Amino acid sequence: MSRALRVGVLTGGGDAPGLNAVIRAVTKSLILQHNAEVLGFEDGFVGMIEKRVRPLSYRDVSGILTRGGTILGTNNKANPFGYYKRGGADVSMQVKRYYEDLGLHAVVVIGGDGTMAVAHGLQEIGLNFVGVPKTIDNDIYGTSRTFGFDTAVAIVTDAIDRLHSTAQSHSRVMIVETMGRYAGWIALYAGVAGGADVILVPEFEYDIEEIVRVCSERESGGQNFTIVVVAEGARPQGGEMAVQEIIKDSPEPLRLGGICKVLETQLELHVRSEVRSVILGHVQRGGTPTPYDRNLATVYGSYAASMVADGAYGRMVALQENHLTSVPLAEVAGKVRTIPLDAPVLAAAMAVGTSFGVPDFQHRLVGTKVSAKMS
Ligand code: F6P
Repeated sequence: MSRALRVGVLTGGGDAPGLNAVIRAVTKSLILQHNAEVLGFEDGFVGMIEKRVRPLSYRDVSGILTRGGTILGTNNKANPFGYYKRGGADVSMQVKRYYEDLGLHAVVVIGGDGTMAVAHGLQEIGLNFVGVPKTIDNDIYGTSRTFGFDTAVAIVTDAIDRLHSTAQSHSRVMIVETMGRYAGWIALYAGVAGGADVILVPEFEYDIEEIVRVCSERESGGQNFTIVVVAEGARPQGGEMAVQEIIKDSPEPLRLGGICKVLETQLELHVRSEVRSVILGHVQRGGTPTPYDRNLATVYGSYAASMVADGAYGRMVALQENHLTSVPLAEVAGKVRTIPLDAPVLAAAMAVGTSFGVPDFQHRLVGTKVSAKMS
């Protein structure tokens, strides 16, 4: 008779609302459906490197569905192929021995593209992984949804709604900066949901004159305020991203922030209204997940548990065309899912007069129809 399933769980990279809901779903499903033993690694791959692990019982994960953050802790620098705490040394074989000593069948990794890339590397040297796609940015390749995104969009939309009323009272241009380094999904979805006049995303370099045109037309047309939503990774045509810090130990060293201040300074020179800006930052990653994210996290977590039981290793859970499926970790690693030009929400936003900071943007969307299929 084969021995009982023994499965590790870890959360890697930046946190996102819904991590605990996934930990709960993975653990409960493995225990209830597969009679498995579950172990939680602390602080992402740090736990696998520094041998920090603890058993996860059914009771340990009860009552965490609605909690933000992760009960296991996370880390966005720990890479066993170049560990920052040991001068960038490759400690992957040590991790493999520890995995074998623990008698694990597999580890469920809940994380973003960096975490999936590390899991893929470890899978190549003989460990087994199943991935669950996490990030508020919704930019993981191979899946149309990551958990955490819906909550971030709700937080940003609420902020835009609040800024609308104060912008109106003071007849101001208000600029809201969201997260999103290389993909502007949060800015796009929250901008559309909040009725932003201008949405600036990393995918399309903006022209400041187009933003000035929108603000000025609104001023002279009697609409006394303008709302601009900008993703942190947006940049002007031929210009640079607003880099705040470079963390050299991190697999993703650039920390962005401040493009809204650049825009504020520039717009103040050209528009009549006063201009104010706000960076929402890590507020977007905090707090309780929305019902949508709780559902998605539970579905992803229980599906990951069934993949482990089926031996479907080296793959990440994914949502494609509203169907639950999985994709090879090899296909996910090192890629970013950016906003495609045929995204229905882009065409819809253009149709209601939203500017993307690009003159004649509609010509780039030629042939795109608003359809029922949302990406
Ligand atoms: O990947 C998610 C993300 O929220 C990015 O949008 C943002 O640039 C980054 O994390 C910030 O990371 P940190 O937690 O290191 O500040």
